[in-house]
Amino acid sequence: MAASSFPQTARFKYHHTGMFVSSLKKSIAWYGEILGYRLLDKQRAVFADGECDLARLKHGDHYIHLFERPRATPYSDGAYMNTLGIKHLDLQVPDDKYDELHRYFASKGVVFLVGAPDAAGNIPTVHNEKILGKPGGLKVMYIRDADGIPIEINGDYRPELYYPDLPDKDAAKYFPAPVPPNELGPDPEYEGSFPRDIPLRYHHTGIFVRDLDRSIRWYEEMLGYRFLYRRKGTYARFDDFSVPWIVNVAMLKHGEFYAEMFEMPDNPECNEEQYQNTLGTKHLNLSLPADQHELLWKYLTDKRAEIVAIPGGLEIFDPDHTRVEISGGEVTRGAM
Ligand SMILES: [Fe+2]
Repeated sequence: MAASSFPQTARFKYHHTGMFVSSLKKSIAWYGEILGYRLLDKQRAVFADGECDLARLKHGDHYIHLFERPRATPYSDGAYMNTLGIKHLDLQVPDDKYDELHRYFASKGVVFLVGAPDAAGNIPTVHNEKILGKPGGLKVMYIRDADGIPIEINGDYRPELYYPDLPDKDAAKYFPAPVPPNELGPDPEYEGSFPRDIPLRYHHTGIFVRDLDRSIRWYEEMLGYRFLYRRKGTYARFDDFSVPWIVNVAMLKHGEFYAEMFEMPDNPECNEEQYQNTLGTKHLNLSLPADQHELLWKYLTDKRAEIVAIPGGLEIFDPDHTRVEISGGEVTRGAM
């Protein structure tokens, strides 16, 4: 894929994932105890059908925003598999801390959707070396949050290291900006039992798209992601583990984080009704320094992107009407 004309100075940082949950109380407790997020504050968020409570939580250098939507349709694996949009947040833990984190989850009674220990208590390596090229393979788990919503966690995974034939040779070194180790652990004021010596960082967002090539081009052109690879992969369907799910997958990179796309050609386009009235993983928020906002707005307007102004930034809709928010200045300020 050709490099896009995206302005090289516009460097996003991952800021947060927006989740719709049934109960803030329940979810603040879950994300705090299980993943080490600390509650920063609560606000009100405005939707077409009225306002709702929003809680902003922080772990290391990134955030999660929980919106309380008690009347929304509960999360289901069937709806996960049969719609498009932002599907899962993936966090990375160092390989040498993976088993410790896994055991912590097990001790807390966390439900494993993928990557549960076997009968003998062994922690599985889900993707073997042959599939991903990573020596020793990759350990991966999907766990369910308080509403059953999947969160993915994997060991060290920098796919560009394992794919020597990358079409975009520059992608591997594009905007390298490692997160300082002291920004990866739970906040100093965090009071839960999440192990302080386990650094969790944002790795990628999983997105279901209708047309993989179209979405790859769009994310390159509009958001400056770099295409790393595409392949056919076999996964387990969350709604039926007996059916092998053979799907076209692509990995893209922007700065130090990734987007993982799954091609689901038969799933319907996202719509506001579904977005607002179902629980689950809803939006990806990237932050951009304030002095770059005007440049980005002009670039996206010239490109005829579907954008809407929101407080502190903009929302952009991808070809499947999946939304990505871009806001913020200082990443630590907790912009919406
Ligand atoms: Fe993923």
